[in-house]
Amino acid sequence: MNNFNLSEKSKNYYEENDIYEIFSIAEDYPNKIYKCLLPKIKNKVVLDLGCGTGKFMKKFYKEALKYYGLDLSNEQLKIAKNKVKSNNVQFICCSAENIPLLENSIDVIISTWVLGTILEVDRRNKVLDEMKRVLKNDGSIYLVENDIGGEFEEIRNRFPNIKKTKDYNDWIESKRFTPYEKFETYFNFKSREQAIDVFKNIWGEKVKDKIKSKIIKQNIVIYKFKI
Ligand SMILES: C[S@@+](CC[C@H](N)C(=O)[O-])C[C@H]1O[C@@H](n2cnc3c(N)ncnc32)[C@H](O)[C@@H]1O
Repeated sequence: MNNFNLSEKSKNYYEENDIYEIFSIAEDYPNKIYKCLLPKIKNKVVLDLGCGTGKFMKKFYKEALKYYGLDLSNEQLKIAKNKVKSNNVQFICCSAENIPLLENSIDVIISTWVLGTILEVDRRNKVLDEMKRVLKNDGSIYLVENDIGGEFEEIRNRFPNIKKTKDYNDWIESKRFTPYEKFETYFNFKSREQAIDVFKNIWGEKVKDKIKSKIIKQNIVIYKFKI
């Protein structure tokens, strides 16, 4: 498998997901996303769509009534399964284009940095249709995405030319998602060398000179959808 940055077919969700796991542990070190979403998932039936290695599942499952972790990559789910063992958790390995859950069965869907990894817009639309199908009439969807600007965007070549991120976020807003929270958070790696190794593995050699410290600032936007 070739390197596709962090898009759907990335080696970092498959044979090199140990690197993704280090990236994921460092991401949002102050737990701002967790603190924002925790009250939303308490005692709810939750679908974590594109749950990856279980970053949020690990923290949320005990608070939820039932927690589904869905991901296309079995390798990602293997790491998540090692973190979480509970009767209220169910893992689903499939594409989110066809979610094997009943319609009107989920209170809250959280999806953190997933839709943008799917490059074809028609497939993204299919995922959105599936999310809405399984969502209860009074349910909510929260998408965690990167916002424009900041160090992380600069390192992955999306700042100062903001077009890619802006186009994607505009697309989300065109689908009746509205910004619910915006804040700055940061990655905290063990060392600058670790940050360089991880970013080089994902985005290639050229990014290494842009990494000045083990802390990398990141702008977040959380989008909300309600029927
Ligand atoms: C950037 S990672 C985010 C993982 C996790 N949500 C997190 O916050 O660490 C994107 C995840 O989406 C998954 N994914 C990509 N395309 C998918 C699809 N069509 N259906 C389900 N999962 C998908 C990948 O396997 C990967 O684990």
